[in-house]
Amino acid sequence: MQSFMRSSRPPDYGGRYRGKLVVVSGASSGLGRRIALDLAGAGAAVVAVARRSELLEKLESELHALSSDSSSRRCDLSDIAAWTGLLAEIEQDHERVDLLVNNAAIDPGIRLADITVEDFHRAFEVNFFAAVAGTLAVLPKMFEQGQGIVVNISSDGGRLPSPGPGAYPASKAALGAFTESVSFRAAKHGVHMHVVYPAWMPTEMGLSALQRGLRMPPRVMRRSEEEVSRLVLARLGGLALDISASLFANFAVVFRAVAPLTYRRLRRSW
Ligand SMILES: NC(=O)c1ccc[n+]([C@@H]2O[C@H](COP(=O)([O-])OP(=O)(O)OC[C@H]3O[C@@H](n4cnc5c(N)ncnc54)[C@H](OP(=O)(O)O)[C@@H]3O)[C@@H](O)[C@H]2O)c1
Repeated sequence: MQSFMRSSRPPDYGGRYRGKLVVVSGASSGLGRRIALDLAGAGAAVVAVARRSELLEKLESELHALSSDSSSRRCDLSDIAAWTGLLAEIEQDHERVDLLVNNAAIDPGIRLADITVEDFHRAFEVNFFAAVAGTLAVLPKMFEQGQGIVVNISSDGGRLPSPGPGAYPASKAALGAFTESVSFRAAKHGVHMHVVYPAWMPTEMGLSALQRGLRMPPRVMRRSEEEVSRLVLARLGGLALDISASLFANFAVVFRAVAPLTYRRLRRSW
């Protein structure tokens, strides 16, 4: 009974998100939705961004119940000008963005035999360029204020690509490299940057990968959106760049480096 009562109370994270202005992209479903709700529950004013209006409307009323200054904005992130324009508007209205969560992503899910370079562009527009544009849009004000957090949601596919056409893992690898590179300068200005490796989650994206033939990852590589969101919110603002939901994936990265041939043999059949 006691543990039920403890787990039913939303975590407060030491009050560190109270009153913060947070933008979460890809908040209409899955991990982005969970992170938006958890941040609102911890007292942040959340601006939730995605394309599907009906899902955003439902989310907005749930966010309002947790944090009255929260709202939602419809935006297609593949329109970079619209996305950066929206961020500028938010910054003007609220005088700052304290935390940007670049979470929106697509997985084209096309076979190698059929994929085209346009499909790569489509994946990179949302998964990479929108996150880059969003980061570059909020950094100047964060630098001026000497604080802020940018979190880019990557994927274990970006550091341990599975067999496939490569567009999704390539976009996530690029996102990780961008974040790490910029993080050094950002740290000097008091701004924290993070790359999140969520493991596999049973979201729309995770489930559609299974439908396309991805083998169900082992238990050590599976997490719920709730688990990943709590981990991320607990770690944001810390010194570590990477936030990895699966320790097993971290070991796999080391194993890949020290035993590349064995790793490739195992990975081929995974
Ligand atoms: N699920 C997994 O197993 C897994 C594993 C590793 C990493 N990840 C990463 O985790 C993050 C969240 O994914 P998820 O699993 O929660 O999948 P999801 O439920 O499919 O969520 C993707 C979100 O991105 C939004 N989005 C896609 N294209 C957009 C666009 N052009 N403009 C604006 N928003 C767009 C979608 O909203 P609208 O359609 O309403 O626009 C949706 O809210 C992604 O970065 C994904 O790569 C997922």
